Amino acid sequence: MNLRNIYYSLSPKSRFLVRKLYYYPVDILDKIQGRKHKYVPNKGDIFIGSGDFIAQGKHHLELLKKYAGLKENHTVLDIGCGIGRAAVSLTQYLSKEGKYEGFDVVEKGILWCEKHISADFPNFNFQYIPLNNDLYHFTEDKAENFIFPYEDNSFDTIFLFSVFTHMQPLEVQNYLNEIYRVLKPNGKCLATYFLYNNEIENKISNKENKINFPYTRENYRLMNEKVPSANIAFKETYLDEMIERSHLKLENKIYGRWSKRTCEGLFDFQDILVFKKE
Ligand SMILES: C[S@@+](CC[C@H](N)C(=O)[O-])C[C@H]1O[C@@H](n2cnc3c(N)ncnc32)[C@H](O)[C@@H]1O
Repeated sequence: MNLRNIYYSLSPKSRFLVRKLYYYPVDILDKIQGRKHKYVPNKGDIFIGSGDFIAQGKHHLELLKKYAGLKENHTVLDIGCGIGRAAVSLTQYLSKEGKYEGFDVVEKGILWCEKHISADFPNFNFQYIPLNNDLYHFTEDKAENFIFPYEDNSFDTIFLFSVFTHMQPLEVQNYLNEIYRVLKPNGKCLATYFLYNNEIENKISNKENKINFPYTRENYRLMNEKVPSANIAFKETYLDEMIERSHLKLENKIYGRWSKRTCEGLFDFQDILVFKKE
């Protein structure tokens, strides 16, 4: 059993605790030495992935401006906002006319965002929505039936960074339908995925990729059988069908480096898709 599998064998709460304990000495040292940035959580609390918190957030903002046409006065929705990585960078971009809404299934992320972001930026609002996700939060309530708590046609821009990479097919379909409902006409949504076709299935079988999905299901592949939401890759044609059912129009697809596709201009790590409500 490798370290990643041991980590996944823990409950979501235990995973958070392990992380907190592992980084406790670093966090204490940062605090004592005054290295703490006001809008960066302690390392032990950052449950959304590794990398430079501020630099990643800025990168997300650049992607939104470049591919989703984000403007300063937009009303935006950050689905699976985690612990505010994109929100922190958006505080430096959205104007007072702009409005930010974010929701997530992990309460500690939302509490941090309310305390550190909403307190200083009242046009930033966060909601804790306790839905089941076997990587992040155990509960009865299912994301596949969840109705977003927003009116129809509310948002200019919606985004999901590394969220559909942790959600099951019925959940993704429901979220795409809901995104269509709450987007304004001509509004755009940017979301990241792991997508595969036959070429990539061969690479997966040959273990050529850094991130692997060895468990095959009919239209998707899993990284870990016991924790299906640990990471999930979708068959590209299957996702196309889901998009069509949602009535969203696919506007752009920028393949990522994860899959080592034989094509030009591989860009981010994950695949980036941009949808439009026409
Ligand atoms: C890899 S993290 C990315 C967080 C954030 N988007 C970012 O880039 O910093 C995945 C996030 O998706 C959230 N998530 C998982 N299932 C969800 C669901 N059904 N609805 C909303 N958020 C969900 C998790 O709690 C977690 O915060």
